[in-house]
Amino acid sequence: MTAAEQHSFSLQAQVRFRTAIREDLPKLEWGGEYLHFRRVFQRTYEEQIAGDRLMLVADFNGFPIGQIFIQLQSLDRMFWDFRKRGYFYSLRVMEPFRGLGLGTALLEEAESILQERNYHMVTIAAAKENARARRLYERCGYRVVSEDAGRWSYIDHEGVTRYVHEPCWILEKNLRPPR
Ligand SMILES: CC(C)(COP(=O)(O)OP(=O)(O)OC[C@H]1O[C@@H](n2cnc3c(N)ncnc32)[C@H](O)[C@@H]1OP(=O)(O)O)[C@@H](O)C(=O)NCCC(=O)NCCS
Repeated sequence: MTAAEQHSFSLQAQVRFRTAIREDLPKLEWGGEYLHFRRVFQRTYEEQIAGDRLMLVADFNGFPIGQIFIQLQSLDRMFWDFRKRGYFYSLRVMEPFRGLGLGTALLEEAESILQERNYHMVTIAAAKENARARRLYERCGYRVVSEDAGRWSYIDHEGVTRYVHEPCWILEKNLRPPR
């Protein structure tokens, strides 16, 4: 063991939940890990301005270390009762900050946002191979209602269409009115 390994420093972190701002967009790439979603972040931000989506981030020292996106409106048949049902997606927490309750806190914060807007129901998808995410959602009161082939596509930062095939569980939760 070296001298440096014998010492530690205790860090108390204040994490603030807020809506993403334009300056967050490059930071959401997390130093290259999500570079391929550059255009997706840009488009989602534009839809946030239009009022169709909301990008909720967990801000630590000015950096978004976690995120969850909310689809507020959709013409999709599944969400035809729009304004009452929201759809959560892209929940993620930076690896060093996992297992500390941040994912759960982001989910709960996103639920409060919908409750304040009088949404009754929320839907979320968990990849079938992502047992950890499903466990988190079920612990938070979500129940599996169906499954989906999880086929979708996006255009990456180089303009190349990427096709995703990620079979998933669809989970739902009833939201209580705000207190
Ligand atoms: C899924 C994900 C968002 C969870 O985020 P997280 O911040 O680790 O979530 P939490 O800390 O709230 O919960 C995770 C675990 O930590 C535990 N935990 C929560 N608070 C804790 C605390 N204060 N101390 C110790 N453990 C804690 C929870 O019980 C949970 O345990 P489990 O995995 O056995 O169920 C994160 O793992 C992630 O970003 N994964 C990659 C992206 C992804 O898969 N997203 C989901 C898309 S469907």
